[in-house]
Amino acid sequence: GAAELGPYRHYMQKEIFEQPRAIGDTLEGVAGIVPELFDGIGQDGATGASAYRVFQDIDKILILACGTSYYSGCTAKYWLEGIAKISTQVEIASEYRYRDSVPDPKTLVVTISQSGETADTLAALKHARSLGMEQTLTICNVATSAMVRECKLAYITRAGVEIGVASTKAFTTQLAGLFLLTLAIAQAKGRLSDVDEARYLKEMRHLPVALQSVLALEPQIIGWAEDFARKDNALFLGRGLHYPIALEGALKLKEVTYIHAEAYAAGELKHGPLALVTSEMPVVAVAPNDALLEKLKSNLQEVRARGGVLYVLADGDTKIKSSDGLHVIRMPEHYGALSPILHVVPLQLLAYHTACARGTDVDKPRNLAKSVTVE
Ligand code: AGP
Repeated sequence: GAAELGPYRHYMQKEIFEQPRAIGDTLEGVAGIVPELFDGIGQDGATGASAYRVFQDIDKILILACGTSYYSGCTAKYWLEGIAKISTQVEIASEYRYRDSVPDPKTLVVTISQSGETADTLAALKHARSLGMEQTLTICNVATSAMVRECKLAYITRAGVEIGVASTKAFTTQLAGLFLLTLAIAQAKGRLSDVDEARYLKEMRHLPVALQSVLALEPQIIGWAEDFARKDNALFLGRGLHYPIALEGALKLKEVTYIHAEAYAAGELKHGPLALVTSEMPVVAVAPNDALLEKLKSNLQEVRARGGVLYVLADGDTKIKSSDGLHVIRMPEHYGALSPILHVVPLQLLAYHTACARGTDVDKPRNLAKSVTVE
C-alpha cells in the first residue's frame, strides 16, 4: 500500500533506492572471508553441509539461472575466473536442461534465483544432479524456497521482499553474494592473499556509500529518460565485466518501457548492429575507457550524418566530456572489480524514469509474472 511506498511512486523506485541498505545488510557480520558463509542450511537449524570441503574438491563451476539472475551469473564468471582462477560456465537454465552436455562430477553447480521457485532453474538443477553432479549451491533471496531446500549449500541474499516485477535490489545483492563466493573459493583453494582479502573487503564495505552517490545521479538520468521516452529502439554496449550489465540494462528497459532494446559486446558494433544506428536509435555505452570511447566515437561519426547519438555512462577515471551527439554522465569514482554493482544502478533508473515518462504500469508490466513457476 501507499504507506509502504513512503516517498516513492512505485516499488521499483523504492527498491532501487533500497540498494545501499540491502548491500549493507549483505555485508553485516562479514568480518573476513570464510567459506562457512555458504554452508548448507540443515533441517531444524542444524548445521548443514560444509562449504569448505566442497570448495577444496571442485575444479569447475556451472552457473544455472534465468533472466536477470542469469546476468548476475554472467558477471560472476569474470570474477570467478579472474580472481579465484576457477573455470566457470554460465547457462540459461531452460537451455541447459534440454541439451546434451558433458558432465563432470568435480563441478560445483550454482543456481541463482531471487524467488527460489523458478521452474526452469529448479528443473535445470535436477537435470545436473541426474548427470551425477552432486555439489550444489544456491544464491537465493528466499530462505524457505524450493531452491534452498534442494541445494546442498546456500547463500541467502538480504535484499528483503522484492515486489516490482523488474528485479533490481535482488540483482545487486546477488552480485555481492557472488563476489563473496569468489573470494571464499579463492581462499579455500589458497589463491587469496591476506593483502588482497583485506583490500576486497574494504572495497565491499565502501559499497553502501558508493551506491548512495550513484543514486544522487538521478536528476541527470531523468534528463536522458526524457529523450528515451520518445524512441522505439535502443542499443546498449559494454565490454568485459560490463557486457552483462549492458544486457541487464537492455532487459530492464524492455520490461518496463516496452522499448525494443538490445545489448552487444562493444567490439561487435561494427560487425553488424552499426547498420541500425540512426537518430532514432540511441546507443548507450556502459563504463568504457577513454581508448574504447575514441573507437566508439569514430564508429558513430560514420553515421553522424544520420544522427547517431551516444549516451555514455563513463567510468570515474575517464576524461570524456559531453559534446554534440554525445551525452556523458560520469560516475563519481572508479570502482575496480566491483564496478558492475555500481554501473547497473543508473541503467535501472533510466528504465524506471523512461517507463514513468511513457506511463506504463511500472511494477506490473504487461504479460509478465514476478516468478515464473511454470515452464
Ligand atoms: C527480471 O527483471 C525478471 N523479471 C526476470 O528475468 C527474472 O530475473 C527471472 O524470471 C528469474 O527469476 P528468479 O531470480 O526468481 O529465478
